[in-house]
Amino acid sequence: MNGVYDDERLAGVYESGNEMPDDALSAWTRLIGSFASRTAPAIVEVGSGTGMFCSAMARWLDASTVLGVEPSTPMLTQARRRNPHPAVHYVTGTAEALPTRDGLFDLALLSRVVHHLPDRPRAARELARVLRPGGVAVVRTTFRDALDALVYDYWPRLRDLDERRFPSRDQVVRDFTGAGFTVHTVTSFAQPVTPSLGAYHARMTARPQSKFTRLTPAEFAHGLRCLAADARNEPPNRPAPATERYDVAVFTAPRAAPDAPTASGAPRRT
Ligand SMILES: C[S@@+](CC[C@H](N)C(=O)[O-])C[C@H]1O[C@@H](n2cnc3c(N)ncnc32)[C@H](O)[C@@H]1O
Repeated sequence: MNGVYDDERLAGVYESGNEMPDDALSAWTRLIGSFASRTAPAIVEVGSGTGMFCSAMARWLDASTVLGVEPSTPMLTQARRRNPHPAVHYVTGTAEALPTRDGLFDLALLSRVVHHLPDRPRAARELARVLRPGGVAVVRTTFRDALDALVYDYWPRLRDLDERRFPSRDQVVRDFTGAGFTVHTVTSFAQPVTPSLGAYHARMTARPQSKFTRLTPAEFAHGLRCLAADARNEPPNRPAPATERYDVAVFTAPRAAPDAPTASGAPRRT
């Protein structure tokens, strides 16, 4: 049902094409964890992919449990292989029908996922259901209003495509507040993903993001040549780290769940 991430090839190259140096991953993880109001939080990551954040949150946030919910079988296989941890459990599921009981979690993470969701309002209601009252949902994304990824410098058509795919800040805020959440904070944070443009070029050769499936082979090859040329011009003694910035929207779960239809179709109160 998930489409592009059911592709074994993409799942196989996703982690190596999107991983971060340990200090950058640790900085992201600690930022995400800073919004939890409890130590040793119970965490659900929705759209957990290859589990990079699940194992990082188990390690650096001392999470009591981390549930990684992911619809793609190839991504789940990679997660279990690459990012196992005793506190982490990976399960099949979608944001719109989370396979877990009400009120169990202190923190929910949606990293680079909201633009994939077919029904964000329903996903927000599910998050309100599975978070304990006062728990937080952390959305890590790039809002349509602020698309600024390095890939757009080399594949400008991706920006046009992403302008159609990514929700705006206002849309996400509306979806979550419509499910009873309140806005805790909206901020943005950047970290290096590779130590140099050359290393960034090397990882892009594997087309490690789903957005590349939207380009023709000729478009992809042209952008890659431009990136290779810039990487060759990089002074070897002064490499520039490639950095990625994301918007981070944090929402506090309602004290009492609203009377909205749930995944099962029946109104539910916690
Ligand atoms: C770009 S990856 C992000 C993976 C991981 N969260 C990260 O930051 O590296 C997007 C993930 O969302 C998953 N996904 C797609 N549709 C989904 C849905 N309806 N519910 C939950 N996850 C979904 C995909 O299968 C994919 O693994």
